[in-house]
Amino acid sequence: MIPVDDEWDKFESYEDYDNFTYNWIKECQRVLKPEGTIWIIGMYHNIFRVGKIMQDIGLWFLNDVIWIKTDALPNLNGRRFTNNHETLIWAVKNKDSKKYTFNYEFLKRINGGKQMKDTDWVFGLCRGQERLRDKNGIKSHPTQKPLKLIQQVILTASNKGHLILDPFMGSGTTAIVATALERNWIGIEKEEKYVKIANKRIEDYIKLKKV
Ligand SMILES: C[S@@+](CC[C@H](N)C(=O)[O-])C[C@H]1O[C@@H](n2cnc3c(N)ncnc32)[C@H](O)[C@@H]1O
Repeated sequence: MIPVDDEWDKFESYEDYDNFTYNWIKECQRVLKPEGTIWIIGMYHNIFRVGKIMQDIGLWFLNDVIWIKTDALPNLNGRRFTNNHETLIWAVKNKDSKKYTFNYEFLKRINGGKQMKDTDWVFGLCRGQERLRDKNGIKSHPTQKPLKLIQQVILTASNKGHLILDPFMGSGTTAIVATALERNWIGIEKEEKYVKIANKRIEDYIKLKKV
């Protein structure tokens, strides 16, 4: 499966992908606190396999949220629809985890007093000033997520001082939003070049906050 043309997103077979996915999700479930939740984002290539594995190991679904991209890249060959969304699965550790964080009242407040009830979230892709680029204008990371999307997740399901784990840190978007919202975070990233990019991004953000 090759959703992104980068080494980290290539697997020999569905079986390989499933083994990898099972192992990391199982570890996340192990360290997940009873009041915590897990969010996994994916596309049609992989999200159904991810969802099956999540249910097989006992994670309990709360919602699936659809990130609708206002500016998805068109499908140019006209052989299928434009894929304009990604799916986030939101789940708790197991079906007995009832005391998870869902900031219902806070979300209502920032939604003009109206219940925030929709599971379709509309945000543009990460573009413009927000998109990290190297000195030649090349994107620093192929799948940098928009800050607003991650912000919505973190505001929904955590409070100040909570600890957030992102095992696929990439360019550090989760760390930036977590820092801004006064959450603690742990990020894991296997590619040295992305670790450097994320570290610099975080340092720059902290410096900016101090001025
Ligand atoms: C979808 S990207 C994350 C993008 C990130 N949310 C952002 O906004 O920049 C997934 C990242 O996971 C990393 N990755 C892939 N396999 C990994 C592994 N086994 N351990 C740690 N990181 C891994 C990739 O190098 C890639 O940067």
